[in-house]
Amino acid sequence: MRKALLTIIGLALIATPAAAFHDGGVAHCNGCHTMHNSQDGVLIDGDSPNGNPWLLVDASPSDVCIACHDHIEHTLGTDVLNPPTLKGAGNFVYLLEDNLNDGHNGALNPISGDAAGHNLVAPGHGLAADATLTAAPGGTFPAAVMGCTSCHDPHGTQDFRFLYGAGRVVQDGVATFTNAAPTAEGLSVFFGAETQGSHTAYQGGMSAWCGNCHGDFHANNAQLVHPSGATLGGTIATTYNLYNGTSDQLGGVAATAYLADVPFEDAANTVGSTAGPTAASQVSCISCHRAHATSAPDAGRWDFSVTFLHEDGAESGSYAIPDPYGDVNQRSLCNKCHAKDAHSTMTP
Ligand code: HEC
Ligand code: HEC
Ligand code: HEC
Ligand code: HEC
Ligand code: HEC
Ligand code: HEC
Repeated sequence: MRKALLTIIGLALIATPAAAFHDGGVAHCNGCHTMHNSQDGVLIDGDSPNGNPWLLVDASPSDVCIACHDHIEHTLGTDVLNPPTLKGAGNFVYLLEDNLNDGHNGALNPISGDAAGHNLVAPGHGLAADATLTAAPGGTFPAAVMGCTSCHDPHGTQDFRFLYGAGRVVQDGVATFTNAAPTAEGLSVFFGAETQGSHTAYQGGMSAWCGNCHGDFHANNAQLVHPSGATLGGTIATTYNLYNGTSDQLGGVAATAYLADVPFEDAANTVGSTAGPTAASQVSCISCHRAHATSAPDAGRWDFSVTFLHEDGAESGSYAIPDPYGDVNQRSLCNKCHAKDAHSTMTP
């Protein structure tokens, strides 16, 4: 009954996209809450005959979100080999994978879908907390409660994608964020699809925002880790602008150098911008990871364990992340900033 009702709401919204649900802020309470868990004498949340802590219409916060976001902008998806349209954050469907390991002997040493990205406590959709990590690496945020409302405010915010900002208490007191929400602009939830000329415009603050839960993980060179939230500098910006794939490392031009697969942060970025970085643009967590999940371990934007991108999916049988250059010789996308492909004598 509940699912049927939400499906009708969802289909109506798809038919008339102007009638947004969240309406840029808090939506009508009954979309997510039920006061008596009863309508026409029938349980609204059939999974929770004794109710649930926040008077929700489904068993957990994430189940409530997924009930709609399964078919409106398929945030989860159902088929690991045929994922929904990519927007920016990536789809959670890969959490259902049995193996993501495309490294050597990956078929014999499976890495479970747990590692595809952030896990969701959503028992109504067959999803549970991460079985390996008990807290956010670099921080203390508990894996046991990880879900949509760990990052997005169910009641809306003024910020990008309703993300929590500084001072916001998350999930009824689990954590308090200290860093602001990132500055960014996103694609349409209904019509958006990531391409080289259509992508999230990452403008600033993402590394600090991830740091709300991950501390200074990856952010501090003194810990011998890769910089994030740091400027590229002139040499790396030039490499990025010239790099047009393993087979064309010096043929790119700055005006069209942007690669949606390896984004950088810059206040000048727009959802349609194709320009490469300047020395002042920043490398960010989001240069290498997606915020939800991918079909590579560690929510990698590309698989960090393959030598050639075309090897992705081969050992594991998981979805192969498309190679933006479509070239059998294409190597790791770390090279967009570093150009350390084979024959790196071509490097400027
Ligand atoms: C998009 C779904 C959604 C909508 C719409 C929504 N809520 Fe909530 N609400 C939640 C979830 C999920 C929680 C559980 C806490 C969490 O996960 O952050 C919650 C928790 C609460 C709480 C208890 C915790 C707190 O933050 O104080 C109150 C009170 C509340 N909601 C009131 C409302 C009212 C009033 C409305 C309508 C104006 C509303 N909600 C609309 C999803 C929603
Ligand atoms: C009743 C259906 C419904 C439910 C339940 C629902 N959503 Fe949505 N959501 C939508 C629709 C429709 C849109 C696109 C239009 C809009 O922004 O309102 C959307 C858009 C969004 C966006 C993108 C907003 C933007 O404009 O950038 C986020 C983020 C989001 N939802 C998160 C959540 C979270 C988190 C929950 C659970 C707490 C949730 N939604 C529950 C229907 C729903
Ligand atoms: C609300 C807290 C929170 C925020 C914000 C957050 N993370 Fe996490 N992250 C976690 C927790 C908890 C885990 C471990 C449990 C899990 O994977 O669900 C985790 C795990 C990860 C993993 C490892 C996944 C795996 O299973 O191996 C990566 C990679 C990651 N986060 C990257 C990011 C990036 C990038 C951002 C910013 C876009 C970010 N996180 C923002 C809490 C957070
Ligand atoms: C670890 C934090 C985190 C969690 C957990 C999370 N989101 Fe997101 N979400 C983000 C960030 C950050 C973005 C913007 C990413 C980008 O554009 O690269 C985003 C983007 C989105 C969008 C815009 C479309 C897209 O794919 O970029 C929607 C809709 C959305 N989230 C809904 C959800 C729902 C529903 C859940 C739970 C099923 C969820 N999110 C869980 C952080 C999170
Ligand atoms: C230059 C690319 C790059 C950047 C930038 C980056 N990461 Fe990573 N991240 C990786 C790679 C590659 C791994 C795989 C493990 C390794 O190589 O250490 C990883 C692994 C992780 C893990 C999993 C660790 C574990 O123990 O399972 C988390 C969490 C994570 N990154 C979070 C972040 C956060 C948060 C940021 C921004 C502050 C960030 N990363 C920036 C490339 C990057
Ligand atoms: C968006 C651009 C970008 C991407 C993508 C990127 N890096 Fe970096 N990397 C940088 C910047 C900027 C520095 C700091 C350079 C400096 O300070 O001279 C750096 C530094 C490094 C260093 C230290 C070099 C030194 O001189 O100490 C290593 C090693 C490295 N990166 C490896 C990687 C690997 C491996 C990947 C892929 C997983 C990667 N990088 C992806 C921008 C990037």
